[in-house]
Amino acid sequence: MAPTTGSTRPMTIGILGAGNIGRPLGRHWLAAGHTVTFGSRDPGRLGPFVELLGDRARAATYAGAVEAGDVVLLAVPNPVLGGLLEQLADRLAGKTVIDATSPIGVSEDGLFVSQLGPGTTQGSWTAERLPHSSVARAFTHFPDELLWSRGTQQRHFWGMGIASGDPRARRVAEALVHDAGFVPVHLGGLEESAAVDPGGRLFGYVSTAAGLRAAAGLAG
Ligand SMILES: NC(=O)c1ccc[n+]([C@@H]2O[C@H](COP(=O)([O-])OP(=O)(O)OC[C@H]3O[C@@H](n4cnc5c(N)ncnc54)[C@H](OP(=O)(O)O)[C@@H]3O)[C@@H](O)[C@H]2O)c1
Repeated sequence: MAPTTGSTRPMTIGILGAGNIGRPLGRHWLAAGHTVTFGSRDPGRLGPFVELLGDRARAATYAGAVEAGDVVLLAVPNPVLGGLLEQLADRLAGKTVIDATSPIGVSEDGLFVSQLGPGTTQGSWTAERLPHSSVARAFTHFPDELLWSRGTQQRHFWGMGIASGDPRARRVAEALVHDAGFVPVHLGGLEESAAVDPGGRLFGYVSTAAGLRAAAGLAG
């Protein structure tokens, strides 16, 4: 497969949840030339943050961030995602949606598990609620505190698992992973993305692209 490159033209991106995941990714994408609207329940509180990021950075309500973006990143705490998607599904129709949320739980033995139980991936769960959007899964297995440092100081060294069976969503997710400073590793369709969900083989795993492929049992 040809090596993935970044985006060829600027995108408009709405980020739902300007927290540990949304902020560093938004900053990477601004640096790559995209326009980023950070969504919040209280956009006024994001003023001091976006003011430092230049005129392609904005703050808005969640609905406003969806309106502003052709691509929307889901980066809110997973338990609130269902309610948010119910409110925003119509506005998300026709858009590319990248789900970075994790349905994280801890088993009685102290192991990370998916709250969705076996057989349902987070990506499939989200796609079911957004039948008119192109959905991909990305940025879910990588620790938040490394997103900015590794994406800037060791650009295109570390791998990032992505999943989507939708060609447009896959292309956009791969480009935005690249633009964030990582090497995308396609794992298959959303139903095949359990590896990046809590308890999955890649959850919390930080490695090169080859290391991710090997750990996920992919050839090459
Ligand atoms: N932390 C990690 O290492 C990591 C790695 C991969 C994936 N993830 C997943 O990525 C998602 C985001 O993680 P995070 O650590 O960035 O989350 P976070 O910082 O705790 O929260 C992100 C933003 O969500 C908004 N929010 C909080 N409670 C909300 C509610 N009840 N309703 C609506 N919005 C609410 C808040 O923004 P406002 O107050 O401005 O509205 C907050 O800044 C999670 O699903 C997490 O599981 C995390």
